[in-house]
Amino acid sequence: MIVHVVVVGNIKNATVEDNMKKLNFNTRAIHVAQKPEPIYGAVSHPIYLTSTYEQKSFGEYQYDYSRAGNPTRNNLEKSIASLENGSGAVAFGSGMAAISAIITLLKSGDHILVSHNVYGGTFRIIDKIYKNFNIEVDWVDTSDLKVIENGIKQNTKFIFVETPTNPMMQLSDIESIVKIAQQNNLKLIIDNTFMSPYFQRPLELGADLVIHSTTKYLNGHSDVVGGIVISNDAEILEKLTFIQMSVGGVPSPFDCWLTQRSLKTLHIRMERHNSNAIKIAKVLEDSNIFENVFYPGLKSHPQYELACKQQIDPNGNPGFGGMISVVLKDKSSAQKFVHKLDLFTLAESLGGVESLVCHPASMTHASIPPEKRKQIGLTDGLVRLSVGIEDPKDLLDDITDALNF
Ligand SMILES: Cc1ncc(COP(=O)(O)O)c(C=O)c1O
Repeated sequence: MIVHVVVVGNIKNATVEDNMKKLNFNTRAIHVAQKPEPIYGAVSHPIYLTSTYEQKSFGEYQYDYSRAGNPTRNNLEKSIASLENGSGAVAFGSGMAAISAIITLLKSGDHILVSHNVYGGTFRIIDKIYKNFNIEVDWVDTSDLKVIENGIKQNTKFIFVETPTNPMMQLSDIESIVKIAQQNNLKLIIDNTFMSPYFQRPLELGADLVIHSTTKYLNGHSDVVGGIVISNDAEILEKLTFIQMSVGGVPSPFDCWLTQRSLKTLHIRMERHNSNAIKIAKVLEDSNIFENVFYPGLKSHPQYELACKQQIDPNGNPGFGGMISVVLKDKSSAQKFVHKLDLFTLAESLGGVESLVCHPASMTHASIPPEKRKQIGLTDGLVRLSVGIEDPKDLLDDITDALNF
């Protein structure tokens, strides 16, 4: 099998990569795999919109076909791998395609433990598709270490954790789960979509794989659907690259380029998402209108301490991201509140520069059966806010106005 490496115009050799490793996060976000291209010196790289490549002779080539490898895609993989402190990454056409690729590392009869609150699509793909291939799953509360330990079976291979969870904002202790996974020879996979590598780097804590819906904070402009898996495990990366090339769920070069461009402002965007959300979460909590306000940056969050320890920016300061969930008494109150909002657009997705609001029970988590939603507290009165990077005063005015629904 040929595993493609990035050879076009930038990170040609180990020396350059080693130099890059010494740079700080914000500099790496701008410079890794982004040295001016060698032909014309273009500072902003061209997009390699090509499906195929000239071969010098039979079997003599750097790239042969864009499903197997594309310079724009490989540059994006290199950049995101660097931000997550991984040795490599494999990009996909969506977060779901990335999760699907990970599950296809398993064999029929294998067992996995998965956080009982995950994005609805993650539940759906495992429950409706991979169960048919005899992948055994137990949905467990991964915030409880005893529950994880008790759930491990002879045939368990993976622990799949979303932290914080979508939309309940529940955290799992990555470092402690790493210990359990290592003692039991299991791979730990973290869905890091909500925090982005700016506020959480699970590989540094010992996780084996990190997945992102790059649709969200990494791209951050609500104009691309994409996904990526990052790891330090060369064998897994090789297998995932093989799956990427064989199954073909690859992102387009244009989408990779857009995401690469967006990465350059990730640190600035995440800071603003975070500071805006902290202000808004406090106003929401102080209003006493909601049955609950779930935001890891609030002292009232049951895992506030863990959030301060685990969710830290590259300088070691805690960060809590831009996602807040609030609970109203029922669907009709939720609807009234949402309709009063003006700057928060009612829409699926999250992590973009513009503020969005969503009703998970009827939107992102509709594929989870109502009784299962109830078990994890995902009620019809729950509303999820994705706080954007607009001026905080305008967002606060909008929220304050909507409190009088
Ligand atoms: C936490 C999380 N993981 C994975 C996904 C799936 O990503 P995508 O929509 O890019 O397929 C989502 C989508 O909302 C998500 O929120």
